[in-house]
Amino acid sequence: MGFFKFKSSSEPIGLDIGTNTIRVAQLSNHQGVPILSNYGTIELPRGAVVNGEILEPEVVGNSLIELWKKVHLSEKRVVVGVTNQKVVVRLIELPFMQKDELRGAIQFQAQEFIPIPIEEAILDFEVVGDFVNDDEEHMVEVLLVAAQKDMIENTLKVLEFAGLKSTAIDVSSFAMVRALLFGSSFDSLAEETKDNVVAFMQLGAGITNIVIVDGTVTRFSRVSTVAGNNFTQGLVDTLGLPFDEAEELKINVGLAPQKGKKDAGIPKKYKEKAKDVQEILEGEATKFVSEIRRSFDYYLSQAPVKDIKRVVLTGSGAILKNLDSFMSKNLKADVSYGHPLDKIKIGSGLSEEEIKKDELSMAICLGLALREFK
Ligand SMILES: Nc1ncnc2c1ncn2[C@@H]1O[C@H](COP(=O)(O)OP(=O)(O)OP(=O)(O)O)[C@@H](O)[C@H]1O
Ligand SMILES: [Mg+2]
Repeated sequence: MGFFKFKSSSEPIGLDIGTNTIRVAQLSNHQGVPILSNYGTIELPRGAVVNGEILEPEVVGNSLIELWKKVHLSEKRVVVGVTNQKVVVRLIELPFMQKDELRGAIQFQAQEFIPIPIEEAILDFEVVGDFVNDDEEHMVEVLLVAAQKDMIENTLKVLEFAGLKSTAIDVSSFAMVRALLFGSSFDSLAEETKDNVVAFMQLGAGITNIVIVDGTVTRFSRVSTVAGNNFTQGLVDTLGLPFDEAEELKINVGLAPQKGKKDAGIPKKYKEKAKDVQEILEGEATKFVSEIRRSFDYYLSQAPVKDIKRVVLTGSGAILKNLDSFMSKNLKADVSYGHPLDKIKIGSGLSEEEIKKDELSMAICLGLALREFK
């Protein structure tokens, strides 16, 4: 699925413009094995991208120019991801019809399903299955994507400013799932959970992507703005600290360990404040889990499954100490971390150690590049 299609590059580049960080990954092909031939990141000043949406196009454009220089990229064609509240994904059911008829039918009916006025939306869809309903009607299930035109055009303008061209625009959450399904970690996961659904989550600074996959089919995808920044903001508001100090405390203290779980410990410097910090972070984590639970409940209200027992986490926000065990306890699910690099070789020009450190935040840009990997 994607909104545009130009001729793609033989060494595709995935571009993930996040709230804190822009990430770029390039893949080359060695006898069918993807090699990460280039990877780089650049931090954005606060306010340039808010909750996944580009608010300061020139700042982001200049950062892209800088990033291209930093990582010595000559290729200008990219697959870019979008994820913010102006992209919505809905699973809809329609009477069965062939694909060429579907496009018209969807255009005609989409407004019922999406919160964006249809004349301001770009639509795309993918058929995920068909079935016969209780009234013996043959139905088709369609994953509908609607993105606000202005937001997409804004993203394209930023790329143009930086001298880049998108061969495709993809929904970032789909890219995340693509990267994680590509990894071998999912093979065993799929084996274990054949009759279950798996929730994939990307926890960033301003955005959390929640995607529910049944087998290999994405059936649910939501964007929430409850993410890493909320945890930091909780400390800012309660302790009256500047944002950067709160960020440092969050990263170094983290959540309190669950009973009986080993803890990595807290650096001495932060011990005095630890108890207060943990209490505030736990409050934020509780709100975060409720937000996820709401998505799960919505999905479960429409699906024949009883519960979602497995959660796979990615995104730098997911590194928050003890978040996995907190989520595991409160969602009553098995929570683990995704490994998007499992089946991707790291190119000889890159430091394996440095790349591995970033693995958790790379899923989206890798998945975007994998979209055009042949
Ligand atoms: N060690 C850590 N412990 C806790 N949180 C961390 C850690 N490292 C980074 N984070 C948090 O991760 C978040 C940034 O995640 P990420 O880099 O994935 O976001 P992004 O891609 O820039 O933004 P988004 O995807 O939301 O648009 C920030 O909230 C930051 O505080
Ligand atoms: Mg991100």
